[in-house]
Amino acid sequence: MKMRKVGRTDLRLPALVLGAMARRQSSDKERIKLFEAAIDQGFNAIDTAPLYGFGRAEQQLGTVLKHVSRNQVQILTKVGLRWHGEKHGEVLFEFTDGNGRLRQVRKDSRPESVRLEVLQSLERLGVETLDLVQIHHPDLHTPFADTMGTLLDMRREGKLRHIGVSNFSAEQVRAAQIALGEVPLCSVQPDYSLVRRRAELELLPLCRELDIGVLVFSPLAEGLLAGKKLKVSNPAVQKIEMVIHEVLFPIAQDHGVSPAAVVLAWVIAQPGVTSAITGASTIEQLNQQTQATKLQLSKSEIQLLGTAFSEVQLPYSWEHREVGLRKIVRRGRAFLGRAARRIGIDPSKLRRRR
Ligand SMILES: NC(=O)c1ccc[n+]([C@@H]2O[C@H](COP(=O)([O-])OP(=O)(O)OC[C@H]3O[C@@H](n4cnc5c(N)ncnc54)[C@H](OP(=O)(O)O)[C@@H]3O)[C@@H](O)[C@H]2O)c1
Repeated sequence: MKMRKVGRTDLRLPALVLGAMARRQSSDKERIKLFEAAIDQGFNAIDTAPLYGFGRAEQQLGTVLKHVSRNQVQILTKVGLRWHGEKHGEVLFEFTDGNGRLRQVRKDSRPESVRLEVLQSLERLGVETLDLVQIHHPDLHTPFADTMGTLLDMRREGKLRHIGVSNFSAEQVRAAQIALGEVPLCSVQPDYSLVRRRAELELLPLCRELDIGVLVFSPLAEGLLAGKKLKVSNPAVQKIEMVIHEVLFPIAQDHGVSPAAVVLAWVIAQPGVTSAITGASTIEQLNQQTQATKLQLSKSEIQLLGTAFSEVQLPYSWEHREVGLRKIVRRGRAFLGRAARRIGIDPSKLRRRR
């Protein structure tokens, strides 16, 4: 894949970067096979995070990296979301662990926490340097200067090459660059697709102005724009499916490519977007996605897609409403688990009986 310059740094990334977060239940063997196939197909950068599979995605990548030369693939990972250790920072979400215990994922970018996370990622991945370390979510209880100070120290120590941020507002991106001083902020990572366009208002213009790379996540709206049926109930989804049928499918048919390829080609053609971070569960999905790098959409097709989907946007909060419901169910399950343990019943047996 053709490489693109990322902001004011010497990092070069392909227009499509593979995301290592699994959206389906899959074995280590299946994920390792998928990562190997992706690298063979030219996905020479992979975006991951300690949070994905709670360390598992980085371990799987570590296995893959044992057999490929280090300069064949760039590793982008993250810091700043913790699910164990001291309770600091705002809760991003809750989950129930294998023992039925309610756990919390918190935004924690304190210097000691960030240092520990980088060291743990290096160990799980089995590498000496990370190509890009991104702050996963802003931690508003820790000054950016403190977090960046630690990342700059680790950069001097050779543990990481570049620093980026994710889920930051335009204002927070400015503050992050100020905290870094002379060192350029390499990239930002926003949620951006045909149906989630908030980044166009302030973030993309700012990144063009300051020359910061933009690596967008969920470019297929978690699969919805590739024709996948999402397990969410939202009226916007139905309207989006109509535009998919009436506008997206005919363009894909005209070019003889998959709808996913058209959607990705649109994303990577947007001014200021460096790369799209896509997710995949199968090699077939990877094949369909790589068609995007060779696809040349006309100006009028780009405009038509942009206009048609701008009428049917997905609210950013729909996911959170779903998460809210799941949270209530999980809290209930965790409560039952604790109650069962207190009276000497194995919670897993309780769950089976239900
Ligand atoms: N910074 C952040 O906060 C953040 C948040 C989310 C994601 N990310 C990053 O962005 C990456 C991608 O996120 P995402 O998974 O939401 O991306 P996405 O590309 O919008 O959606 C990926 C999903 O779409 C489906 N799909 C992909 N290609 C398809 C095709 N050709 N036909 C039909 N369905 C297809 C698959 O669903 P199935 O697997 O169900 O088949 C796949 O898992 C993640 O892995 C992660 O690295 C970052």
